[in-house]
Amino acid sequence: MKVLIVGSGGREHALIYKIAQSQQVEKIYAAPGNGGISDLAECIDIKADDVNGLLQFAKDKKIDFTIVGPEAALAAGIADEFTKNGLLIFGVNKSSAQLESSKVFSKELMQKYSIPTADFKVFNDSFKAKEYLKQNSFPCVVKADGLAAGKGVVIVKDYTQACEVVDKIMEEKVFGDSGRMILIEDCLQGDEASIIALTDSKDIVVLDSSQDHKRVFDNDEGPNTGGMGAYSPVPLVDKSLLKEIEDQIIKPTMQALVKEGIDYKGVLYAGIMVTKDGPKVLEFNVRFGDPETQAIIPRIKSDFLELLLSVAKSNLGEFLENNPLIWDERFCVCVVCASGGYPGYYEKDKTIKGLEKIASLEDTIVFHAGTKKIIDKTIQKEQYVTCGGRVLAVSSFGKTIKLAIENTYKALNNISFENMHYRKDIAKKALSLK
Ligand code: AMP
Ligand code: GLY
Repeated sequence: MKVLIVGSGGREHALIYKIAQSQQVEKIYAAPGNGGISDLAECIDIKADDVNGLLQFAKDKKIDFTIVGPEAALAAGIADEFTKNGLLIFGVNKSSAQLESSKVFSKELMQKYSIPTADFKVFNDSFKAKEYLKQNSFPCVVKADGLAAGKGVVIVKDYTQACEVVDKIMEEKVFGDSGRMILIEDCLQGDEASIIALTDSKDIVVLDSSQDHKRVFDNDEGPNTGGMGAYSPVPLVDKSLLKEIEDQIIKPTMQALVKEGIDYKGVLYAGIMVTKDGPKVLEFNVRFGDPETQAIIPRIKSDFLELLLSVAKSNLGEFLENNPLIWDERFCVCVVCASGGYPGYYEKDKTIKGLEKIASLEDTIVFHAGTKKIIDKTIQKEQYVTCGGRVLAVSSFGKTIKLAIENTYKALNNISFENMHYRKDIAKKALSLK
């Protein structure tokens, strides 16, 4: 089978790493891929959201199955176009992608179907939003409706800061059209977890839990990033809590989408806050998490390609009856190494050293994100250099979370590039969350 993976991050490297293990795979293409991906797949120079370019490529190369990583391609309708042209694809269609691309759509759906989430109000007028804020309590959360590369959510501490954020989003339009509407939400307290499920609109499989680390510095300080590390499973989310999340959030959301006439086939990712009143939804995403995938995928023992195929072919239930998902019971911790300056303006073209040392380590995998492979002419050798903010992630296993943490940092110590930075406290919370 010829498989095309759309995307270029660590998440896509993890998907390709796993899919390459399937007996069914004959050739993998990645669009556009990255340095590490190019070791496993042929990288092609087509952007992830260039739907027409990808469609043409898939037709020309007679691709049997396409798997989509990032949300932008899904929101641009890649699944609709491929399906219309008779091509098999894993990824939700455009109307399903609204669950991520419009926070107003997602919150109104949750309200209509009583899915637990923070109370909220929607505004399309900055004056009215500010009037409402006068009698609101703080902290509260201001969110732009549309996609904003993870930067459209601000927890505000007082009225003045809230008004500044409202003006930035609605008047200065820093996120363009994504800020035409905003949400003002109650601020939830608790611990966060990412719960990622796959569904074909009839059946659901909930993957093991994971937890992201969004802030750039240790102890959750500094600005938000795409994610600086993750681990799986999360001790806080024990079997009974996972079942509660499945029964009260994942299944009702899938059923709500079906009732709304949406044919939802793909990833249903719930960002959850575990509050003292139970789990509540912070947000939904319609794709695998990054870097959560880099901590979850190494733990999956089953043929992941077959699982994704069963979702795309709408026979997930039947598939799972004969092929229950098998997990490596160990913990996996993933730490992201980032470029100097990230999440702000960052440096590029730094040589990455030590990758060969880490390649021989058992139970450690390096997933590339912002890397590219070049030929160093002076030594006539291939080398990887940095070309993105999040450069790569190191994932290691451990029988206990403590061992997984130790193994990951020990492996990571082999790697270096100029001004590399990473968090030193990934998964530390799990040690006290038992
Ligand atoms: P979102 O993109 O909606 O997931 O928001 C990004 C991050 O903002 C979440 O992972 C939370 O850390 C935080 N956040 C979002 N909504 C809330 C809320 N209602 N209460 C507290 N924190 C929130
Ligand atoms: N790690 C958070 C996300 O993928 O949205």
